[in-house]
Amino acid sequence: MANIEIRNVSKGYGGRAVLSNLSLELNDGECFTLLGPSGCGKTVLTRLIAGFEAPDAGTILIGGNIVADAATGDSLPTDKRGLGMVFQDYAVWPHMTVFDNIAYPLKIAGIDAEALKRRTLESIEMVGLKNLEERLPSQLSGGQQQRVALARALVHEPGILLLDEPLNNLDANLREEMRFEIKALQQKLGVTILYVTHDQEIALGIADRIAIMDADGRIRQIGTPEEVYEKSVDDYVFRFLGIANLLPVRRRNDDLFLGDTGEAWTGETPATTGDRFTAGFRPSDVILAREGEGLPGIIRRASFLGAQIDYLIDIAGTLIRATLPSHEGVARDLMFVENDPCRIHLASVQWFPGDIVVTNRV
Ligand SMILES: Nc1ncnc2c1ncn2[C@@H]1O[C@H](COP(=O)(O)OP(=O)(O)OP(=O)(O)O)[C@@H](O)[C@H]1O
Ligand SMILES: [Mg+2]
Repeated sequence: MANIEIRNVSKGYGGRAVLSNLSLELNDGECFTLLGPSGCGKTVLTRLIAGFEAPDAGTILIGGNIVADAATGDSLPTDKRGLGMVFQDYAVWPHMTVFDNIAYPLKIAGIDAEALKRRTLESIEMVGLKNLEERLPSQLSGGQQQRVALARALVHEPGILLLDEPLNNLDANLREEMRFEIKALQQKLGVTILYVTHDQEIALGIADRIAIMDADGRIRQIGTPEEVYEKSVDDYVFRFLGIANLLPVRRRNDDLFLGDTGEAWTGETPATTGDRFTAGFRPSDVILAREGEGLPGIIRRASFLGAQIDYLIDIAGTLIRATLPSHEGVARDLMFVENDPCRIHLASVQWFPGDIVVTNRV
């Protein structure tokens, strides 16, 4: 069993708390992503799990065994925790060949030469670096170097992989490719993965479950990618997971209005009571029309992006983004230009109570 339990862990520096009373559980064999803004404490948490640092309070367990306990001061050394790690800068050793880089953890562990060779070659094959064994890192692409780091983390068959922004230095295509490969490795090896990132697309794409942290190091929501994306617990999570449109909605008597404009709200209605709401929706949730029913808007900017069209629309003084497939824009006469009037419907709305300060006012 390679599950991880973080129990009431706190950590700070110089009197400034980074993590406060944080609890979290990773199941055996799952890919768990930790998503949060820069500086929120993701790397600090990873370092605590790895054993590079000790928590100020709380307990960390791996596979049911305590590996760090602030109360007793117990701490299991990093190399006894059964972990493989790839960090932000992935640090492959420039003077060592691919083979030697990957074999290094086995060499340190004193594995005999024959087993060392066999396991190193297996790892090399697993990450698709076969026939590149004798190259130096400087003779590899960024993605290949990344694979060296990954193979090195996997070579001693850890139960847990800690990956802290491991794809940062790669271009978008390679990042996507590596993301699929990491996922495939997880499924093949059954390894438990903690994947740390501030990139919401990677986080959603790779995770079995995902935790969203805020700038204060608090976890706002944990769930499957679909859950957190479709049912965000608050507008922070909603905004963090993609382009977020927010419109103020008021209830007077039983009628809903758009903000203070007096314009009738035509979309779906909130299930809860109260008289002030914010409607959250994504650009792809906007259904456009030239006229008819729906909220009236004015196109402020039209951008043709090839596969899709992106509009910036003024809805009673609040700017929202809308996207639609280009072929649909052409087929349904929805190729707007600046200052065209339009109507919008919303395919899906997430409701948040109260007024949320909407920054994109006209
Ligand atoms: N050794 C340290 N001494 C003092 N402060 C530290 C130390 N390590 C981290 N911090 C502080 O703790 C906070 C969290 O840092 P951390 O590296 O965990 O952020 P992060 O979420 O990983 O951000 P990023 O996405 O940029 O990597 C930051 O304010 C950082 O300055
Ligand atoms: Mg970090």
